[in-house]
Amino acid sequence: MTDFWADADAHLLRYGATFVPEIIDRAEGSFVYTESGKKILDFTSGQMSSILGHSHPDIVATVQAQVAKLDHLYSGMLSRPVVDLSRRLAESLPAPLDKVLLLTTGAESNEAAIRLAKLVTGKHEIVSFARSWHGMTHAAAAATYVSGRRGYGPTAPGNFVIPTPDSYRPDFVDANGVFDWRKQLDVAFALIDAQSTGALAACIVEPILSSGGIIEPPLGYLAALKQKCQERGMLLILDEAQTGLCRTGQWYAFERDGVVPDILTLSKTLGAGLPLAAVVTSAAIEQEAHDRGFLFFTTHVNDPLVAAVGNTVLDVLERDHLDVRAAELGAFLRTGLLELQARHAVVGDVRGRGLLQGIELVLDRETKESSDELGHAITRRCLDLGLHMNIVQLAGSGGTFRIAPALTSTEEELSLGLDILDQAISEATASLRAA
Ligand SMILES: Cc1ncc(COP(=O)(O)O)c(C=O)c1O
Repeated sequence: MTDFWADADAHLLRYGATFVPEIIDRAEGSFVYTESGKKILDFTSGQMSSILGHSHPDIVATVQAQVAKLDHLYSGMLSRPVVDLSRRLAESLPAPLDKVLLLTTGAESNEAAIRLAKLVTGKHEIVSFARSWHGMTHAAAAATYVSGRRGYGPTAPGNFVIPTPDSYRPDFVDANGVFDWRKQLDVAFALIDAQSTGALAACIVEPILSSGGIIEPPLGYLAALKQKCQERGMLLILDEAQTGLCRTGQWYAFERDGVVPDILTLSKTLGAGLPLAAVVTSAAIEQEAHDRGFLFFTTHVNDPLVAAVGNTVLDVLERDHLDVRAAELGAFLRTGLLELQARHAVVGDVRGRGLLQGIELVLDRETKESSDELGHAITRRCLDLGLHMNIVQLAGSGGTFRIAPALTSTEEELSLGLDILDQAISEATASLRAA
């Protein structure tokens, strides 16, 4: 057998990940299994995608049957899985979100959504959050501010940023010291208006920012943002890559806010780990785009294999009431995380919704000083103890663990994760104090 890590060093182009020092052999349900014989609880559901756990039997059966029957087609040919999934997605969404484009990745769906918004409005300026992540392709990356902006030359002209509404580290506070998100939003759009050349096309945001550190905009924020967009003739694009399809306890996170976006993008959770994404919009926007010659002709647009997977994802979510389950499990997980906060001073904040939770680490609850070292030490210790955790470390905030277990998890699995996290935090803080 060749040396795996030597081959990896020699032949893998590194893309920003720090590789987990284990060779993963297989995955099933909530666990991944290493070649060295370790069983690791997956608290990030792969790359925040495997909402049905790994290798869910219904998905396995669908892939096996579909790949043998109809795999891939000329992009101008249609098949039943594609039209069924499009209709079912529209049925799962409020009016007027009726028209669906099936694609492959999150970045691609945002690329298509931004392209659609530009064509329909005849404008090109795009607004997004300062801690956003919308993907690595050109327009998606131009609207991504949390990392990766330096060194790649100019982004498309007309990309603007607004501050992230972070209640834990508020930058605008009222006389009582409470986060004044309305003022923050007013100031943000005053600055947008000052910079705009009169070509505002769209605002793209995540209803809960994930890579930005699990930031949940306060209730009322998204409705106020939509109002700002409407006043300027801009479209509101909501990127529900991580929050869509029941994870937050509702089918779509925007339902909490009582707003309907002009364009919705879905990805990660839609394929439950397989490469499937969607752009959904109204018949009016679709018609206008079509009249103006909308082009998004790709190799894998409307591919039957992953569309069949998407139908099975919807079957399982509906059959097993996983929206309700995510809310119940989310409440269970949150209670456990709040107990950790009560026990460990370094757990500065617990936040999130349903099965998308975050805990922010701080060295001091008053100053909210962060420590990269502590976050890395806890992550490493969790792995030793059999738990995969992901931390986002951002300048200006503490490290935040993003906790997103599968919706098929059991309470026992969540308890196991919480126990390991508890032990890892205790040991890592003790050794940091001793150092
Ligand atoms: C909110 C959000 N949008 C878009 C993307 C990009 O998706 P992909 O990596 O599938 O292109 C991500 C990926 O992390 C994401 O979190």
